[in-house]
Amino acid sequence: MKFYKLFGMMVLVLLAVTAVAVSAQDEAAGDLEIFSWWTGGGEAAGLDALIARFSELYPDVNIINSAVAGGSGVNARAVLATRVQAGDPPDSFQVHAGSALLNLYGADRMEPLNFLYEESGWMDQFPEGLLDLISSDGNIYSVPANIHRSNVMWYVPGNLEEWGVTVPETWDEFINETCPTLQEAGIVPLSVGQTWTQMHLWENVALAGLGVDGYNGLWDGTTAWDSPEVMQVFETYGQILDCTNDDRDALDWQPPAQMVVEGTAAFNVMGDWAAGYFLTDLELEPGVGFGWTTPPGTDGVFIMLSDTFGLPIGAPNRDAAVAWLKFLGSPEAQDIFNPIKGSLPANTTAAIDDSELYNAYFQDAYEDWTSNTIVGSLAHEAVGAGEFQNGFSEIIAQFSAEHDVETATIVAAELAADTLVTD
Ligand code: GAL
Repeated sequence: MKFYKLFGMMVLVLLAVTAVAVSAQDEAAGDLEIFSWWTGGGEAAGLDALIARFSELYPDVNIINSAVAGGSGVNARAVLATRVQAGDPPDSFQVHAGSALLNLYGADRMEPLNFLYEESGWMDQFPEGLLDLISSDGNIYSVPANIHRSNVMWYVPGNLEEWGVTVPETWDEFINETCPTLQEAGIVPLSVGQTWTQMHLWENVALAGLGVDGYNGLWDGTTAWDSPEVMQVFETYGQILDCTNDDRDALDWQPPAQMVVEGTAAFNVMGDWAAGYFLTDLELEPGVGFGWTTPPGTDGVFIMLSDTFGLPIGAPNRDAAVAWLKFLGSPEAQDIFNPIKGSLPANTTAAIDDSELYNAYFQDAYEDWTSNTIVGSLAHEAVGAGEFQNGFSEIIAQFSAEHDVETATIVAAELAADTLVTD
């Protein structure tokens, strides 16, 4: 065969292959509305990077980023619930794995995505325990973007040294020794923000006080909310609140995290989206600009949550939404998003072992994720989402003002009896 003929055939084959690839990508076009609560420091950058790469892959899709401000989705969730109920869902929305996805949306509102998992080879790529949190009756209802951790306590190593304190091993040590020392020095011992961040702190104190079985028992009915153990959790939690900033009820999560790295507070208990904030927005060096440990009493346990996106029934642009989800679950997207967001990739074929991409913080978190006992976060809807969490927010808000242990536990027990499915 003459060279030019062979060359010509190769060109044709190449053109054909390109045409197939291009046409598959071309199928998705038009507006694609993505709904989330990632607007703030440490949150928006990860989403923006995903959108930028998706837009390169699907130039005919116009992403409408409908993020609603407010950490942990405090405002977004209500907007979303109203829209979905009114039959006006965005094309794809952020929803926590676990009870938020399965109890609040699930089969009635979402399309099963098993086809996407099979087509993309994901059945073996996402951890089984995580798939369980997004599946019911064999149907998988969303695509996880990440794994986040609730039980992290942030500090600045150099500051602790300067103030003559060490990381407390127990909450008693914190309350009786660390807190008074820091207060005398005019430093806020532990920074915290508005109600949801207090609930976040509370779940960490509860895990420490109740242990894994006792904590899990809160959700399956085997731990009574008005038991002496839970009362003790509230006692301890109240004493910890006395070591926090007075303006707590007015702050979202970034200002309390910032207090630590600026040196006005010593510790902050917050999920590892704070690592995203420190690394991406504040450009701090892990281990120097910020340090991390598990909050007292939670070593060996990983309080997990996962941000997932799904395909609502009636999504206006289903094709583009499927393209988005297919991209989101890919190792490429996971490696774009997670190093910026502070979370671990959920797809196990992502490049977590690349320590250039995933620095020391991520390596440490990954080791724990793969070796610790895993429990679900209440503040971030892996457990107790919906009516219980809403009611518990009110209990936490009232407790911030009144510190009334008895009322808190009695009301929580009534709420649990009314709202938690315990069978
Ligand atoms: C969590 C969410 C994280 C992060 C955080 C603060 O609920 O899972 O991705 O955004 O809220 O807003």
